[in-house]
Amino acid sequence: MTSYKDLGLANTREMFKKAVDGGYAVPAYNFNNLEQLQAIIQACVETKSPVILQVSSGARKYANATLLRNMARGAVEYAKELGYEIPIALHLDHGDTFELCKDCIDNGFSSVMIDGSHHSYEENVALTKKVVEYAHQFDVTVEGELGVLAGVEDDVVAEKSTYTKPSEVEDFVKKTNVDSLAISIGTSHGANKFTPSQCERNAEGVLVPPPLRFDILKEIEKRIPGFPIVLHGSSSVPQAEVDTINKFGGKLDDAVGIPESQLREAAASAVCKINIDSDGRLVMTAAIRKVLAEKPGEFDPRKYIGPARDALVVMYKGKNENVLGSAGKA
Ligand code: 13P
Repeated sequence: MTSYKDLGLANTREMFKKAVDGGYAVPAYNFNNLEQLQAIIQACVETKSPVILQVSSGARKYANATLLRNMARGAVEYAKELGYEIPIALHLDHGDTFELCKDCIDNGFSSVMIDGSHHSYEENVALTKKVVEYAHQFDVTVEGELGVLAGVEDDVVAEKSTYTKPSEVEDFVKKTNVDSLAISIGTSHGANKFTPSQCERNAEGVLVPPPLRFDILKEIEKRIPGFPIVLHGSSSVPQAEVDTINKFGGKLDDAVGIPESQLREAAASAVCKINIDSDGRLVMTAAIRKVLAEKPGEFDPRKYIGPARDALVVMYKGKNENVLGSAGKA
């Protein structure tokens, strides 16, 4: 058993309390390689922001669980080395079984998500409760989910979304004793969050997605005041990155994300954790494609992954400062 406390990590309890009281959201950035992690830590130290490092089960398979755990330990040291100590959580994104959550808790994670949203309500309650009972023995915090997000994320695929039913949230939180709740109010995973038929086109021909269901969020807040709410699928899919990818040989058709103005509005509410993965993928891909297209003779990975890392730092800093409001809160 490796406790996250021995790695210098923090659970999310205190982070969320401060975020709910302060009207901002803590960034939850996914990582599966060195340069993403360097960029996340550098950006969060430079903006003095707390951060949740997210690892999906797909990332654990890709990068190796032992390596990822020790990278998170290294991230804590790296942040100190950069000159400012920030709270860092290591979180399992979309855990789908008790066994996976237990394995992460036993191996240094400070927070886990158990996503029982694809099961019946009763099964979701039972599974979430089981994970919470195990996690809380070790002071690990747990995120549950009610409602289903559409989209594709690593191993998680859902074709249709189902909005969270506000009538279920009080009962779910009470029965499971979960620490935070992911809800579905119109966000979705990936770079194509909506089909063109769900959107309108503006004068420039750019897709404008339907607005998030803030009415559902408000109803949920009314029923569980001050309880930490989580938004998955919150990349804004910057058009400039999509254009760069397409200009340098990529093919991303009709990519569309969540407008930053709506994320800002969510962050000012009880939403205290905002999950961003796809924007990092887009920024990295755009930068790498640009270097390889402009310098076809380049074959040193540091020369194309390095600029991608620099671009990630800029993007993450911008999120903390201008979207989530987490800058200066660590
Ligand atoms: P995006 O695909 O919008 O980045 O969402 C990531 C996410 O929700 C991770 O759980």
